[in-house]
Amino acid sequence: MSSSNTPASASGSGAGTAIAAPLPPQSDPSPSGVSVVGILGHDAIRVGHDLLASIPDDLCRSLPSKRNGKFVIVTDETVAALWLQNVVAAFARAGLTVESGAVLVFVLPPGEVAKTRESKSELEDLLIAKRCDRSTCLIALGGGVVGDLVGYTAASFMRGVPVVQLPTTLLAMVDSSIGGKTGLDTPLGKNPLGAFHQPHRIYLNLRFLESLPDRQLSNGMAEVIKTAAFCDAQFFQWLESNVEHVFARSPAALKHVVLECAAVKARVVTEDEKEITGMRSLLNFGHTIGHAVEALCQPEMLHGEAVSIGMIKEAEIARSLGLLSQANLARLSDCLDAYELPTQYPAARLPLERVMAAMAFDKKNQGGTKSVVLLSGIGSVVTLPNPQNKRIGASQVTDDTIRRVLSSYVQVVPGAVQAPVAPPPSSSATAAATAAAAAATTTTTAATPLVAESVVQVPGSKSISNRVLLLAALGTGTCRIRGLLHSDDTRVMLQALKSLGVHSEFENEGTVLAVRGAEGLLTAPQDDIYLGNAGTAARFLTSVAALVCSAAPTGGTSTARSHVVLTGKPRMKERPNGPLISALVANGASIECLEKPGCLPIRVACAPSAGSGTLRGGDVELAANISSQYVSSLLISAPYTQQPVRLRLVGGEVVSQLYIDMTLALMKDFGVPVAAPVAGSGADPVYQIPTAKYANPPEYAVEGDASSATYPLAIAAVTGKKVTVANVGKLSLQGDAQFCHLLARMGCTVEQTDMTTTVTGPSGIAPRLRALGTVDMGDMTDAFMTLAAVCAIADGVTSIRNIANQRVKECNRILVMLQELTKMGIHVVELEDGLEIHGRPASELHGATIVCHDDHRIAMSFAVLGCVVPNVIISERACVEKTYPEFWDDLTLHLGVGVQAPLSTPESRTPTVDANRQSLAELPIVMVGMRGAGKSTLGAAVAALDSRQFIDLDELIVSTALGGVSILDHVAAHGWESFRRAETQTLRGLLVPFLDGSGATTTTTTATTTTLSSGTSHSKPLLIACGGGVVETEAARQLLAQFGRVVLLHRHTDDVVAYLLSDKTRPTWNEHPSDIYARRLPLYRACSQYEFVISRGDSNWTRIARELHEFVRFISQTDSAAAGSSQLLYPSTQPSWPAAGRLTSLDLIRPNGWLHPTEEIRTPTGFLSLTFADLTEPALTNAFRPIVAQIQLDRARQAQGVLRQDALSRLILPSRDPGSLTGTDILSAICEQGVHAIELRVDLLDCWRDATAVAEQVACLRRITPLGLPIIYTVRSVQHGGKFDGKEADWLRLTLLGIRLGCAYVDVETTWSASARETVLKALSAANTRVIGSYHVPVGWGQVESIESSTPDAAVHLLRRAAPGLSGRVPVHHSAWNALRGRFEEARLGDRAHIVKVIARAGTVEDNYALAQLAASIQACERDVKAKPIPTLTLCMGDAGSLSRATSTMMTPFTHPLLPFKAAPGQLSLPSLHQLRNQIGLLPQQQFVLLGSPIQRSMSPTLHNAAFDAVGLPHRYSLCETSSADVAVQILLGGATLQQEPLEFAGAPVHGASVTIPLKQDLVPHMHSLSKAAEVIGAINTVSCLPAPVGHSAPKWLHGDNTDWLGILHCLARATQWPVSEHLLTKPARSAHGEQPISSSASRTALVLGAGGTARAAMYALAAFGMSTVYVHNRTAANAEQLAADFSWAYKVEVVQDLARDLVQRGVVVNVVLATVPTSAGVTIPDALLEQSTPATPPVVVLDVAYIPPSTALLEQAARHNCTIIRGIDMLIEQGFAQFELWHALPAPRSYIRSVVLDAFERMCEKSSSS
Ligand SMILES: NC(=O)c1ccc[n+]([C@@H]2O[C@H](COP(=O)([O-])OP(=O)(O)OC[C@H]3O[C@@H](n4cnc5c(N)ncnc54)[C@H](O)[C@@H]3O)[C@@H](O)[C@H]2O)c1
Repeated sequence: MSSSNTPASASGSGAGTAIAAPLPPQSDPSPSGVSVVGILGHDAIRVGHDLLASIPDDLCRSLPSKRNGKFVIVTDETVAALWLQNVVAAFARAGLTVESGAVLVFVLPPGEVAKTRESKSELEDLLIAKRCDRSTCLIALGGGVVGDLVGYTAASFMRGVPVVQLPTTLLAMVDSSIGGKTGLDTPLGKNPLGAFHQPHRIYLNLRFLESLPDRQLSNGMAEVIKTAAFCDAQFFQWLESNVEHVFARSPAALKHVVLECAAVKARVVTEDEKEITGMRSLLNFGHTIGHAVEALCQPEMLHGEAVSIGMIKEAEIARSLGLLSQANLARLSDCLDAYELPTQYPAARLPLERVMAAMAFDKKNQGGTKSVVLLSGIGSVVTLPNPQNKRIGASQVTDDTIRRVLSSYVQVVPGAVQAPVAPPPSSSATAAATAAAAAATTTTTAATPLVAESVVQVPGSKSISNRVLLLAALGTGTCRIRGLLHSDDTRVMLQALKSLGVHSEFENEGTVLAVRGAEGLLTAPQDDIYLGNAGTAARFLTSVAALVCSAAPTGGTSTARSHVVLTGKPRMKERPNGPLISALVANGASIECLEKPGCLPIRVACAPSAGSGTLRGGDVELAANISSQYVSSLLISAPYTQQPVRLRLVGGEVVSQLYIDMTLALMKDFGVPVAAPVAGSGADPVYQIPTAKYANPPEYAVEGDASSATYPLAIAAVTGKKVTVANVGKLSLQGDAQFCHLLARMGCTVEQTDMTTTVTGPSGIAPRLRALGTVDMGDMTDAFMTLAAVCAIADGVTSIRNIANQRVKECNRILVMLQELTKMGIHVVELEDGLEIHGRPASELHGATIVCHDDHRIAMSFAVLGCVVPNVIISERACVEKTYPEFWDDLTLHLGVGVQAPLSTPESRTPTVDANRQSLAELPIVMVGMRGAGKSTLGAAVAALDSRQFIDLDELIVSTALGGVSILDHVAAHGWESFRRAETQTLRGLLVPFLDGSGATTTTTTATTTTLSSGTSHSKPLLIACGGGVVETEAARQLLAQFGRVVLLHRHTDDVVAYLLSDKTRPTWNEHPSDIYARRLPLYRACSQYEFVISRGDSNWTRIARELHEFVRFISQTDSAAAGSSQLLYPSTQPSWPAAGRLTSLDLIRPNGWLHPTEEIRTPTGFLSLTFADLTEPALTNAFRPIVAQIQLDRARQAQGVLRQDALSRLILPSRDPGSLTGTDILSAICEQGVHAIELRVDLLDCWRDATAVAEQVACLRRITPLGLPIIYTVRSVQHGGKFDGKEADWLRLTLLGIRLGCAYVDVETTWSASARETVLKALSAANTRVIGSYHVPVGWGQVESIESSTPDAAVHLLRRAAPGLSGRVPVHHSAWNALRGRFEEARLGDRAHIVKVIARAGTVEDNYALAQLAASIQACERDVKAKPIPTLTLCMGDAGSLSRATSTMMTPFTHPLLPFKAAPGQLSLPSLHQLRNQIGLLPQQQFVLLGSPIQRSMSPTLHNAAFDAVGLPHRYSLCETSSADVAVQILLGGATLQQEPLEFAGAPVHGASVTIPLKQDLVPHMHSLSKAAEVIGAINTVSCLPAPVGHSAPKWLHGDNTDWLGILHCLARATQWPVSEHLLTKPARSAHGEQPISSSASRTALVLGAGGTARAAMYALAAFGMSTVYVHNRTAANAEQLAADFSWAYKVEVVQDLARDLVQRGVVVNVVLATVPTSAGVTIPDALLEQSTPATPPVVVLDVAYIPPSTALLEQAARHNCTIIRGIDMLIEQGFAQFELWHALPAPRSYIRSVVLDAFERMCEKSSSS
């Protein structure tokens, strides 16, 4: 094609676009000559190979007034190294030298990072410094980056100086250098700044391309292909055929490419310089989506690569609107692929809403619609009608349409359609545009009926396409093939045939391929023929290669090779081809297998002369029992051998006869009929093939793919409509074409012509399809899934058989169909060779998110069901591309079925699965492990602590599957195998409804499908304990592995074995238990995802059960749902049990997670960073050896009255002999002091190479730390300041172990490879463990170093240097900023990190600010560009970095002075952190008070002040005596000045108050909000004074809470050992007096004395125990009656007036006595009530809340009866913990508080007893 050709396509008339011819280039279009292209009326563009020498003169001539001006060459470092010398030398030859100052040079860093305002400023400063004036000319020598920057600088410098573009990349030559657009990036986006400034000259010097890396060449080719695609079909075809010439950088090819594109761009710019007519917007084809992809995939993806993907997606939009054929889309995709450009949309990296948001940022887009260039064919575009009446240009397309194409999920909307929107084939382009405009502007949800009658063409059959291509290539004459399948296989075949000299081209919008038959005269190609993974092409071409001759057919120059090499992908090289090769070699072919015998690659020698291949013909024997493709291959080539062929098929049964028949039928169509086989010797079939030439029919319509046809036909069946598939009929050669007859049997009307099939589904009132009974699908395996979908709504049961091989297709199709159908409410049973489907009416089914496992047939089959069942969402929308790329479009365009992106896409959910939390919590958890590991015991104990229902699988099997027969008896009678089968079946029955592990949709089936032995459906989530041998069968292992929520209970082998050997009730063991354990352990591990370890020798089952309970809560993601912290939240939230102030692992990184209605309250969170080498005993005690000695010394001193004032003094250790103190005791005490979470530095452990030992360490840590304390699991590499020096594989193994062990967080350093990180993230996707993406800025790192290499930490130094004086978001040097931004981006782990941690080393205090500022500025950008800001922690190491630790208020690591060493230099202890925060104003002193009267002897001040002291909080708690509610409120609101000590607090605002008698109930009405508990109790003891919201009338917001009940609850739970059930605390919404109590399961009774505020708290606490009866006794009976009425929702309440009469005489037993009356009442109760009813019953528990005076009459009485006594002071302390935690969101230093308060209390007691 010559460059004078018009780039416009004529095909798009009407609304289609025709671009006028470019101005023809002048001068010499030959490769060596110089061509000139005009733009905007000037001959500004020069194209040639060696332009450099002429440039200076040309410039001096054309810029006469600038003769004395300076030339400033701006380039980047890479280009400078390669080409700057040549350019400078050319100027020097013209007398313009650098030395003379006539030429200046400015070099930038390479790449996009240089395209910033800062670079421009630097350049401008240089120009000014060098006294450049208006006579200066700037020369941009480089790629688009340099071009854009220099262009913009030239536009504004001295109000505009000339710029010369000297582009060096292909992209810049064909695009960015032409047209005058210039631009700069800002952190918020690409190119928002810029100007139009036309270059004076554009020199396209092709020699520069020699040094361009291949990837950059491809990058430029994206813009080239874009240009051809939107306006020049002929150029496009040229590109398709010249890939190798372009890659070989042939001068002629490069010149052609550059000249063509330059000409088009020049023309477009000349017509529409400023983008007014719309013409210029066409250049944006692929860019709307491409820019968004680029923004989100930078820096890995180049501009052209992103545009390549953008083009595909924008072409898909055109296809979805019925404007572009799939054939043309496939051509575009093939062409991009050929130029090594990406075409796959990386959906996983591009969350839909982020892409939409990124597109919205584009200047050209408006809200609700986006500007998209819509192709109507290769070389033509359509412009939709628009309000501006623009004739030409991009169109506005609705966001919904774009979402539909970009979403990786698709929702089929039953009955929700437009009329089919595709224009009829004959309609004009205008009509097409109008129809598409309607479609493009509508959202597809309106519920209009399905169109009654539809016609659809399905994609061509692959088998037929391949055969027809080959036959036509070998035949005589031109054959126009219609309906060809566009797939990888056919593309490979076509390319191969082209390289063998067969000419073909696309016609009629790519819908027709014209193949000019080579009459059997094929020529050897220059290069090897690469066949990818296309098996059919490989087999067919093996025979064809033997027909090739080495001479050119028409006597042309014979540069051809004398052989053909066929090769392919590694997988292809494994596939057998031996029998075929042997048969060919035996017949005269010379074939050499180059790698493996019988496999590709092969070298096939060519025949020396034209016209006769190497094959003799005659008798040929071929083994046909492996692949029918061998037979077809030989059959197709046979007519071209020297003699007629007698082909005998040997080797037994011929496989896939159907395909051989297909080949023969097609040969007949091409004029070579072959008679039916005659039986040869031994009855082998023999085919006789004459020598002949195929006579190409002028036209051939490839039959549609019969498997693809099943979907539209099935849609007809289920919807009752009429659907015609226009290209599969009764003459079809394909097995799946029989599918319609099954539909007929089900009640559909089926009509067929030779080429069409029409199905009409049953209609009328409540029509039902009939089930099929048993159906053998052996001949139609690909259609079984379609049938299954139809049978799902048929009336009756269908068994689909003979499809066992479908288990090993794209996925286990049988299992996946079972799972996914089950999710929708269909009962399906797996058969040995198929499925049994119990149909249900569609109206009884429900939607589900279908997981397709990348299997196109699963997706399309469920789309069929989606036509009649609402809310069917199909994942992996793109998987249909394998065989039916336009499937979703056909649904809307031809079948009238609604298709949309789901409104809330599963992909838009955050990776923390918050949205799924509730439903995940409902999934069962399965426990596996050795017998004797404690599964049953612990399972039952855990279930008692939680709302899970425990199932012992063995028990369930016995009661259900075995009908009550014991396992041993069953085994004796039927053997183990039979038991194992029953075991797997029972387990499957429990798990099937949940098998894909996805959210809400599965939970609805829970109650209906899983029925337990008792016959009652369970509603609580299950905890299932399997027998130890469950892993013995493969089936059970597979089931468990697939289920994905399996915990291995791993108790130390020695402990298990000892237990088993001691258990005499078990059957005798054939194998020693330790051998069994050793054998099974890997099996357990393989099918479990979690591991709960019971450390060696640990037998404290109560505690272990609680730990396991926490573990189960964590992995089932209920940990955050029941956040204790929610107590501070407002009334709608959950009850606050058990520990009010405990933060959950997610709260740790939710700095603003503690919301109250008025504003966000920030509570700093932190974790203790451990540095031990071994946490097991006695190693830990050894590590503390010096401290133990110190403690001994201290205790001796203390005895002498000397007190220490350091960390040790606040550490409360067991008071026993200090010599017996263990390390565990000490570390436990440390972990109690304000620790939110604990970091296990795995790299510091001695044992990190041994996974079992590491697991043991985690188990120890759990035992040492308070229950449920989140563990942060870190493997810090040496490079990042840690000690881990292993390989990446070790790191990966260790990190995966952390997830498996249920640690709350794992740390992932960015330095590990992307694939390692990906593996971790993949494991995390199903787990509740959160991930910290951590990046340590190394010293002298990367690009930053090159700028400032002398500093110890270049990055931070640079930041500091740049920070002062710069406010706003871009505080730092561009390179540093951009480089670090890239690292931040990496640490976000593709947005899947829960927290980003960036650590640098601080040299000076300023570094703290610089890094924080940097992080803030990057986060600010992210907030704008990305949907999900991720909490970011920035820390500076070193002493100068301590400040950063105080200012970072989320997940701050801290140390403790007693640890072996600090985990990082500069780490502070928690008290130091608090002090520092206080000193710099981040943690102001707060005032707390006690309100009530009398309070002078209260212990509360001692309690709270001790806590402040222990954790270093600067707060103060004091007394404020009043019995007036009004006064109290005034104090709380800050209206009354406090008169008290210490002085610094006088007048300070109050942050919180404890409330006691007599105000507990009086203050309730004054609260602005109440916690849920306080509301139910009707009394408060705790007030938080929160900032008032805007518009609130009072100066504070008072929030009332109650912690008394928590104090009572915890004390009682300890004393009684009764389990606490959180859910029992929920008061039913409509509680009426006298209603049935919600729980009365256990026989538990209590007597409550009193009816005031504390009595109310006691009543509430009792609810959590599920009491049967509570008796209330009070002096004033009316108050007691009221109390009884208020709590009748919780249990039975009886008011008793006379204890002796009403209780003792009636023989009532009370388990608990709770006295809540002031001691002055001197209460005692009848002795009988305190006596144990029988010696076996536990003693009565007596609690008296009064503690002043210390001993009360009741407690003395209780002591006499040996009751279990709870003192008031104990309860006070317990409620104090909760109060502290509520106010400060910090775990209370419990032991320290207790010890200080009890000390003080004892002193008080002594004083009072002595006075
Ligand atoms: N103004 C416009 O109309 C327009 C149009 C398209 C793209 N652009 C802009 O162009 C930029 C992309 O241009 P680009 O792809 O040329 O990137 P680029 O300028 O960054 O160059 C790519 C890389 O190739 C190197 N390089 C350049 N020439 C080389 C040569 N001859 N040999 C070896 N290496 C060489 C560069 O140093 C650089 O590292 C983007 O900023 C984009 O926004 C602008």
